[in-house]
Amino acid sequence: MKKALISIALLCSGVLLSQGAQANAFVNGEDAVSYRQAAFQTIRFNLVDINDMFRGNVPYDLERVQRRAEALATLTQLPWEAFNIPGADHASGKVKAALWQNLEDFNQRGEKFAADAAALHEAAQGGDRRAIQGAFREFANNCKACHDNYRAD
Ligand code: HEC
Repeated sequence: MKKALISIALLCSGVLLSQGAQANAFVNGEDAVSYRQAAFQTIRFNLVDINDMFRGNVPYDLERVQRRAEALATLTQLPWEAFNIPGADHASGKVKAALWQNLEDFNQRGEKFAADAAALHEAAQGGDRRAIQGAFREFANNCKACHDNYRAD
């Protein structure tokens, strides 16, 4: 057991060393882009899976909805920090210039999105299918509204 812990510790330090000290999503604009894009991709997977259940593409499974909603409640809090580090506006990323001119509005939309995900999570915990579907629809409306304004094609 002790041996296993030591080798895990060595493995972790090896990973950190091999990536070098400069790889940090919160000081490096390009790493910040990778971080937030990865968060959005994971958000998309969780959203699509819930949507597939409501559409009957896969069987409805409350426990599975709850797991996805729990993940979304956390994941939707992640991308915004990576838009707000110094230099983020000079990094790549598929964003419209309007985003940097309206960062406050953008951040507020991010907060509403996360709040709607928290409401979805709560509805999922309650277990009522219609309530979950309503919260899900509300949550999903955020994507297009924000993309239309701020995401580049
Ligand atoms: C508050 C604004 C906002 C909301 C809400 C939002 N997005 Fe996005 N999304 C963006 C922006 C901006 C980008 C571009 C990020 C970049 O390239 O740096 C993006 C990019 C993406 C990407 C592409 C990531 C990549 O690999 O390039 C996916 C997928 C995505 N969003 C899915 C979603 C889904 C699904 C939802 C709703 C459940 C959602 N987003 C809600 C702003 C938002």
